[in-house]
Amino acid sequence: MQNLLNHPALAAALPDRLPFTIAQRTRRVYDRLAAFYPLSTMFFHSRAHRRAMADSGIRDGMQVLEIATGSGEMFRRLVRVNRGGATLGLDLSPNMAARTQHRVSKEFPGSVARCHAVDARFLPFRDEFFDAIVCCYLLELLSQDDILRTLSEIRRVLKCGGTFTLVLIGEKTELFNRLYRVLGSLAPAFWGRQIEQRVTDFLTLHDLRILSDCTVRQSFYPSRVLTARK
Ligand SMILES: C[S@@+](CC[C@H](N)C(=O)[O-])C[C@H]1O[C@@H](n2cnc3c(N)ncnc32)[C@H](O)[C@@H]1O
Repeated sequence: MQNLLNHPALAAALPDRLPFTIAQRTRRVYDRLAAFYPLSTMFFHSRAHRRAMADSGIRDGMQVLEIATGSGEMFRRLVRVNRGGATLGLDLSPNMAARTQHRVSKEFPGSVARCHAVDARFLPFRDEFFDAIVCCYLLELLSQDDILRTLSEIRRVLKCGGTFTLVLIGEKTELFNRLYRVLGSLAPAFWGRQIEQRVTDFLTLHDLRILSDCTVRQSFYPSRVLTARK
């Protein structure tokens, strides 16, 4: 981990305007927005979620983890496909995690599906536990050190040969990027900053081999969807 933090490929560090302690504020802001968040997913994230689902290779009977479930829209897709397996979810915000757990218990009463309030930087699972891990729109909210820490944790709990599917906010449209920079400077704990252009460095540094990589657009909102194998 220490080596990665000092790795020369990261020397040209991200424009890291996120203070290390931002997680507390992120937790507070997402906690407050938990009831409204499904709207944002519906308008901006659902197409990327569908693509991530298709590319992830997730099949029934697997041990699956979703990191940063938000209000649980992707989590419910995962549970629907993985009825005979176990699907675990986590989110830093207790309200988001509770909301996700509540919806999934109602919709899929017989399934093994649990969501808890957990910080992705410190995953409470043993090594090589999951067949597949999914993480959508989280890395933007983490400082560079925390991105590396979280990816190390993901690699640790993923089985050899397991897949990691990652969704990020796309950076291909200059107008959108400008708007995002403004929003990010107004409310960094909610918006974070775009990091898509560094993502292949991050995955390669963690020995995660990219299997698929595409950009999808919903309205004006671009997302990059990658699946990698350990
Ligand atoms: C932009 S939302 C994305 C939600 C969902 N994945 C989606 O695709 O719509 C980011 C989520 O990450 C969660 N989050 C932020 N920092 C986290 C951390 N350190 N560990 C776990 N979850 C975190 C927030 O609480 C929030 O629910």
